[in-house]
Amino acid sequence: MSSCSVLLLLCLLAVHAISSESRLLSSGSSLDTAAGRLLRQYQPLASAAQGCSPGQYPTSQGGCEACPKGSWCPGGAAAPVPCSSGSSSGLTTQKQGATSVKQCVVPPGMRLTKKGSSLVEPCPKGQFRAGFAAAADAAALKCSKCSAGSTTTVAAATKKQDCKVLLPGYYWSRPGAKRGKPRAAGSVAPAQTADPVPRLCPQNSWCPGGIADATVTPTACPNGLWTEAMGATSQDECRVPPGHFLLGTGATATITPCSTGSLTTSPTQPGTYQPEWLLPNDTAAAACKSCGAGILSIANEPLAVYAADDDGTGRPKMLSVAATNISCYIRQGQGMVLDAGSTAADPVYKAVTCSSNSVGVPDTQYGLEEARCSECPDNMITANLFKSAITGGYYDVGACLVPPGYG
Ligand SMILES: *[C@@H]1O[C@H](CO)[C@@H](O)[C@H](O)[C@H]1NC(C)=O
Ligand SMILES: *[C@@H]1O[C@H](CO)[C@@H](O)[C@H](O)[C@H]1NC(C)=O
Repeated sequence: MSSCSVLLLLCLLAVHAISSESRLLSSGSSLDTAAGRLLRQYQPLASAAQGCSPGQYPTSQGGCEACPKGSWCPGGAAAPVPCSSGSSSGLTTQKQGATSVKQCVVPPGMRLTKKGSSLVEPCPKGQFRAGFAAAADAAALKCSKCSAGSTTTVAAATKKQDCKVLLPGYYWSRPGAKRGKPRAAGSVAPAQTADPVPRLCPQNSWCPGGIADATVTPTACPNGLWTEAMGATSQDECRVPPGHFLLGTGATATITPCSTGSLTTSPTQPGTYQPEWLLPNDTAAAACKSCGAGILSIANEPLAVYAADDDGTGRPKMLSVAATNISCYIRQGQGMVLDAGSTAADPVYKAVTCSSNSVGVPDTQYGLEEARCSECPDNMITANLFKSAITGGYYDVGACLVPPGYG
């Protein structure tokens, strides 16, 4: 054999090796040999007559092409199979060349309309879905809600960062940032790297909501005004709270508790109360209501105070205030009667001491309600019994006795 024919034989052997690799390829097995890698480079030129490999389909020109995005190709002579049946559905593939239906996915910002469906719909406003999800995955059905207090500008949001719109009544807070603690002079603010999270607006301030901006902080109510709870959305919610009035006018006006009165001053001062959440410009906010002459009041009704760092889940503390007329009281041995000039329809009361053949209340009595001194029964008079050391009034019918020589 000449050296030339030996070379020819080697050439023939090489061609045989390549064609058997080619059969292996069309049956779907992997190729690791140099010849296989070489062959793969030329794959687009393979003829449709030989059958295309998975992820490819035969073209009309007789070649094979990568399966288009949105379809998958089983290979052989099969045409691309669209992930979605209808034109308006939205299952797709992440890239071209998909080989199986398992590569049909729901794109980010979308979800399946229902289980088993190939119809997708956008995540509604206020929700998002990140990444591609296989249609068979439970994740393909669900969009995630933005954190409470935030929402998105539009539907079909694809990431948590799209939840950048604050709802009214919330502000941006950075986790780990110390609230309410002023820094020492000259110290440097700690680096704030965490994403801001929405928090419920603290009491006595208001938060209008709006587009993401780390500088969106609560605005304190002016003049020390209160809000009824957390989460106020506008300055209109800044009020004079029950049990308080606004002392003074203008910028220096201050929220002040209702006076509970004094009987030792001259003239005496009746107790007062204030039942409403009043706008500061309401004339009723300029003073608390009087209980009536000689009637005192006590701060004994609860008003909720929410801690500055409450996230909306905490319980308020209760401050005691003189809110309603239940805070007004008369004392042992006293009665409560209509004051001169007032009518039952529009009553103004005053306290009286039941000291002359009549008996008053046995103990402190709260509320504004007529409580006349009860006259002793016929032919009886009060003696020096059951006489209150506090008011000098009689407080028990036992004080009424038949005088000597009667009965
Ligand atoms: C009081 O203020 C509110 C808004 O805070 C306003 O709507 C109202 O007209 C004001 N009333 C008076 C009497 O000025
Ligand atoms: C006292 O309060 C009660 C209950 O709120 C109310 O019905 C009554 O009219 C009030 N009386 C006066 C004098 O304000």
